[in-house]
Amino acid sequence: MAKVTLTIDGIGVMAEPETTVLQAALAADVYIPHLCYHPDLRPAGVCRVCMVEVEGRGLVPSCLTPVAEGMTVSTESPQVDKVRRVAVELLLANHPEDCLTCGKNNRCELQRIAAYIGIDRKQLGRFRRSKEPIPIDTSNPFFNRDMNRCILCGICVRTCEELQGTCAINYVNRGYKAVTAPFGNEPIAESNCEACGECVVRCPTGALSCKGFQEPTREVRTVCPYCGVGCGIRLGVRGGKIVSSQGDPQSLANHGRLCVKGRFGHDFVNHPRRLTKPLVRKQGELVETDWDEALGLVAEKFTQHKGKQFAAIASAKCTSEENYVAQKFTRAVMGTNSIDHCARL
Ligand code: SF4
Ligand code: SF4
Ligand code: SF4
Ligand code: FES
Repeated sequence: MAKVTLTIDGIGVMAEPETTVLQAALAADVYIPHLCYHPDLRPAGVCRVCMVEVEGRGLVPSCLTPVAEGMTVSTESPQVDKVRRVAVELLLANHPEDCLTCGKNNRCELQRIAAYIGIDRKQLGRFRRSKEPIPIDTSNPFFNRDMNRCILCGICVRTCEELQGTCAINYVNRGYKAVTAPFGNEPIAESNCEACGECVVRCPTGALSCKGFQEPTREVRTVCPYCGVGCGIRLGVRGGKIVSSQGDPQSLANHGRLCVKGRFGHDFVNHPRRLTKPLVRKQGELVETDWDEALGLVAEKFTQHKGKQFAAIASAKCTSEENYVAQKFTRAVMGTNSIDHCARL
């Protein structure tokens, strides 16, 4: 289908017909602040931070407005600035001011947009309302839920429903008491949440944040070692230790998404009790040895137990080729069909 031509801030932009003004602007490197839009999810249009002015139509939310041929869009004007500013000021008015101790400090979209607009948080007294502090839900072993920092953008709800298909959380309560929570506002650990962390990485504020997060000094692209899907991951490394794991958006296996194991299950690498050398039993005791001795011992045992005395279990951590070789060896060399594998860990 032919592309649509429109003008954004005086720049000629070509866009696919089904895209929105926000998507067209971002693709053309024109920044429009936005909080409830996420490229992986259907737009919800709830924050009103992405307002722009369209000639002949006035103010519209850019995340919900499809592009049209000949459209003229302004992302900056006195009216746009006013509604955008009020929308963010209302969000910030009763928001905790302790950014320095917040789990998302320097990674928070609300903080970034407030700075972009130039909002002075000390001037927000006129919007303040009294609000009971909400206890932080620390029940999940990997992330915390601090609903005092929630801006009700709904990204977590849509992520859990549209991407994860779990529907563990939704809006509960009404008005000022509205929050996102599991059914019955129970602790998240008692819900059907699978702890994939997909909502946590998309949450634009510190409402959802990983426990003990440390900023990595570098990232290493690799493949998740847990199962045969082979998700692409970016391991964050700091001081020679793995401190974070992100899905690799360029991986065709997972398109940037991860399950609980791929996202939170890498602490075994640095665990002090992890076996890093082979052990062999000598006089009833397991003792450390080198690979030559360990593999030699296994090869020797193979010669003593053929046919029905032998069975093999391969692993989903291995490649398809390695598993093929394992079954070939078991059948052709050891003379048995007793070969199985663990499909997942
Ligand atoms: S969520 Fe963002 S704006 Fe709120 S306290 Fe944390 S860093 Fe600051
Ligand atoms: S928890 Fe985060 S993602 Fe969910 S609604 Fe609140 S701010 Fe948005
Ligand atoms: S961690 Fe995953 S399963 Fe749990 S609420 Fe978030 S998206 Fe849903
Ligand atoms: S990003 Fe458009 S309304 Fe929130």
